[in-house]
Amino acid sequence: MKALFFETRQDEKALIGQYASESDLSANLSDEILSMENVSLTAGYDAISTLGQSKLNRELLTALSDNGVKYITTRTVGFDHIDLQAAKELGIKVCRAEYPADGVAEFAVMQMLLVLRCYKPMLWRLNVNDYSLAGMMGRELHSMTVGILGGGRIGKRVAKILHGFGAKILVSSLEHDDELALIAEYCDNERIYAESDMITLHLPLLPETRYMINAETIAQMKDGVILINTARGELMNIEEVTRGIETEKIGALAMDVFENEQGIYHADRRLDILQNKDMVYLRQFPNVVMTPHMAFYTAENVRSMVYCGVNCLVQMEKGEKTHLRVV
Ligand code: COI
Repeated sequence: MKALFFETRQDEKALIGQYASESDLSANLSDEILSMENVSLTAGYDAISTLGQSKLNRELLTALSDNGVKYITTRTVGFDHIDLQAAKELGIKVCRAEYPADGVAEFAVMQMLLVLRCYKPMLWRLNVNDYSLAGMMGRELHSMTVGILGGGRIGKRVAKILHGFGAKILVSSLEHDDELALIAEYCDNERIYAESDMITLHLPLLPETRYMINAETIAQMKDGVILINTARGELMNIEEVTRGIETEKIGALAMDVFENEQGIYHADRRLDILQNKDMVYLRQFPNVVMTPHMAFYTAENVRSMVYCGVNCLVQMEKGEKTHLRVV
């Protein structure tokens, strides 16, 4: 099978080569984001692989199908950038990656600690030799109630870490997990909004979760609530979240993701005029910590993402079932 890998980062290249040669896959690599402008590159390939910036909508999938592409892997856990229904109708098989929950969970807890201990404004002060403490008083996790929206693998790992800190944990989830129930209390979103000092999002982006953090849900939260988002930017209505920061209803915010981050995050845009006004405006607040979608970015996870990106193509071609298949 011949596959073209898009969005390949330097740190992925040797791994793609290694796993491809081990599984007899002929892999070519491109740094480009796949779009209608460059879809002609895929002519003659049976398969492609992308990360999360290529928007595989119906138009692009149709063009891929016309070029003979039958298999797609996304080297990401999330698959909100792929129109799965269109892929199914076109007979294209799609598979996503899996990687351990630890990297993202640890990053989410790091963001909690950064905002709780005023790390960002302290860093600003240190840069100008201001060693004063005024305004830098923190809070401790063990005295807080943390609400986890989404009790899947990452939410559960976050709960386990927070349990070690002694925090009270509330979790809302469609599925029940006995082990999680030993350290967290299951409840509905409304109770999480009403009782949590800090709320962390660990949900996929679906039509029913899009913009779930909005003026209405923020109004139900405690004054000074802290929000942590390492999942997807589109879970938040950013205009209404920004209003929450401006009015101080939201006490602090940490976001590793941002709506319309594609083309900005993971690129050096130092000399460019950025068009994402919300992103640039929010970044200025001392109580807003923003990171460029890097919670996933650990050596362990990258290895797993590439492994899945290569091996799921091979498995799909052989007709083998893989638990990672989404179509
Ligand atoms: C994911 O795996 O879903 C991520 O968020 C990682 C990123 C490379 C898109």
